[in-house]
Amino acid sequence: MSKTIAVEISRLNKTYGNGFCAIKDLSLEIQEGEFFGLLGPNGAGKSTLINSLAGLVKPTSGYVRIMGNDIRDNRTNAAMSVGIVPQEIVCDPFLTVAETLVFQSGFFGLRNNEAWLDTIVSKLGLEDKISTPVRMLSGGMKRRVLIAQALVHKPPVIVLDEPTAGVDVQLRRELWAFIGQLHREGHTIILTTHYLEEAQNLCSRIAIMNAGEIIALDKTDALLAKAQENTVRFRLPCTLPDVLQSQVLQNQAGRYVLRYTDLQNLTMILKSLNDLGVEPENLSIERAGLEEVFTELLNKN
Ligand SMILES: Nc1ncnc2c1ncn2[C@@H]1O[C@H](COP(=O)(O)OP(=O)(O)OP(=O)(O)O)[C@@H](O)[C@H]1O
Ligand SMILES: [Mg+2]
Repeated sequence: MSKTIAVEISRLNKTYGNGFCAIKDLSLEIQEGEFFGLLGPNGAGKSTLINSLAGLVKPTSGYVRIMGNDIRDNRTNAAMSVGIVPQEIVCDPFLTVAETLVFQSGFFGLRNNEAWLDTIVSKLGLEDKISTPVRMLSGGMKRRVLIAQALVHKPPVIVLDEPTAGVDVQLRRELWAFIGQLHREGHTIILTTHYLEEAQNLCSRIAIMNAGEIIALDKTDALLAKAQENTVRFRLPCTLPDVLQSQVLQNQAGRYVLRYTDLQNLTMILKSLNDLGVEPENLSIERAGLEEVFTELLNKN
């Protein structure tokens, strides 16, 4: 059985009023139930793309469908299908947290959704702040309100634009537990973040954007497999065996960083060191992560 396409972006272009082209002929399909990561350096066009889904940015050409609803021809259904947590904090500063959520529910014509609102408030740790005007909240607390606001209509597609920027460790943990639960219940999650480890751990598929285009799109495991720079680090109080010279990435006064390709290669390195009869100091082994792949890809482009 074929799965529903949660988000379908086809040949999307966005040129801002000043003539700057932020999205270039971009096409992308995200399946229902995916946990999808959208990564890229500052200015790559991630927020422009995300804001196009919300109708906050008007595409110059191309189309976007959310759960099959075209954002122009079928605006109401498209809006009901998606909840977007924007990167910029935009809330009415004079409303309390409770009023903000009730107001946002009214925007979708929802009544009697108190039980769901209570769940959101409790999962995001906002109970104590429910009667506080938003302007009196700290930055991290405002971000929690923004997340809550995006979820009032329990949208099947949840888009989070840097939800953990400026957020403390506890909320980060609570937020991922809650989003993880919604994902298991079938919601599609789209995430942008500059914390690559977060994306590596959470997302099953990742797109990397640069200058308005997608430069890589693959399952997270497949992207990670492209990383070559697994490393072994150590300090050696004697000369490095000749057989290891070709694998040296760095040598600063006996502090070595060696590249290894696979387990067999790693075993060979460790055996050669062991044969020296001198214990290497501060030995550590690091598998290449998303950060290496990201840097390699951006350097190539
Ligand atoms: N209203 C606007 N008018 C003109 N240019 C804009 C406008 N909004 C964004 N841009 C430009 O479009 C490009 C993409 O911006 P965007 O905010 O989408 O990037 P981003 O990938 O989200 O970056 P970040 O990681 O910093 O959030 C940038 O060069 C930005 O300066
Ligand atoms: Mg952005």
